[in-house]
Amino acid sequence: MSEPLLSIHDFSVTYDVDPPVHAVKGVTLELARGEILGLAGESGCGKTTLAYGVQRLLKAPAVITNGSVMFHDASGEDVDINALGAEEMRRFRWDKISMVFQGAMNSLNPVAQIGSQLEDVFEVHRPEMTPRQRRSEVADLLELVRVGAQRARSFPHELSGGMRQRVMIAMALALRPQLMVMDEPTTALDVLVQREIIRQISQLRHEFGFSVIFITHDLPLLLEITDRIAIMREGEIVEVGRAEQIWTDPQDAYTRTLLSSFPRLTGERGVVVR
Ligand SMILES: Nc1ncnc2c1ncn2[C@@H]1O[C@H](COP(=O)(O)OP(=O)(O)OP(=O)(O)O)[C@@H](O)[C@H]1O
Ligand SMILES: [Mg+2]
Repeated sequence: MSEPLLSIHDFSVTYDVDPPVHAVKGVTLELARGEILGLAGESGCGKTTLAYGVQRLLKAPAVITNGSVMFHDASGEDVDINALGAEEMRRFRWDKISMVFQGAMNSLNPVAQIGSQLEDVFEVHRPEMTPRQRRSEVADLLELVRVGAQRARSFPHELSGGMRQRVMIAMALALRPQLMVMDEPTTALDVLVQREIIRQISQLRHEFGFSVIFITHDLPLLLEITDRIAIMREGEIVEVGRAEQIWTDPQDAYTRTLLSSFPRLTGERGVVVR
């Protein structure tokens, strides 16, 4: 594998409730620079908990009980994410890692124009920028995700679901992070819109060189866009492989079960035949 960006080692998370839920159990996973890694598995298998855990976004009753997460920064520095202080982590999260949350497109502020919501990111994290620079960056971002700069003055309700999700992606891209974690970013959208957004993320990844962890239970979607896929079951990674390999030659029985619950896949990669 090429140069690593993120190394997760023996990582475990428990929800300290009664009885305790061992949501993530000893996960070891490496993500390469520029790679799109898909994380798939049934509802409740621990995908979101893992994604939150590696960014230290978990709150009580969640407890990280074991493991380490190393971020290999482009500067050459290795950062132990568990060792960062709260404030360092907050900055790190936007600058180096960004996240598109599950259901994110409904989290835009309904009473603020989307341009100003994007500008807020720069105001907080790039205080040295002038208002004019901020506006110009926001216009560029809106073009980049194909919402269009002229939409900066729109309110969220004036945009389609797909557009709102693109705005969230623009927000995640704003500070040019090295890693973008996307938790079910397109699930609420119709299939065509989903695919277009996903193709675009893949293109942007080539342009900017960031890595993506893409979480979904939609395995066929991952087959189309990811380099590798990790299959998660009951808190554990049961199989990791190149997307083609997972598709044509799954090694784990559970992966086969998961694949068989989707329409049969034949022909070229990504062509779904019902
Ligand atoms: N705050 C919480 N307290 C107790 N248990 C929790 C909490 N949050 C999640 N869990 C449990 O942890 C397990 C993993 O949940 P998680 O949300 O990570 O799964 P997921 O794979 O992201 O599911 P989905 O596909 O539905 O989003 C589940 O059994 C869930 O019920
Ligand atoms: Mg989830």
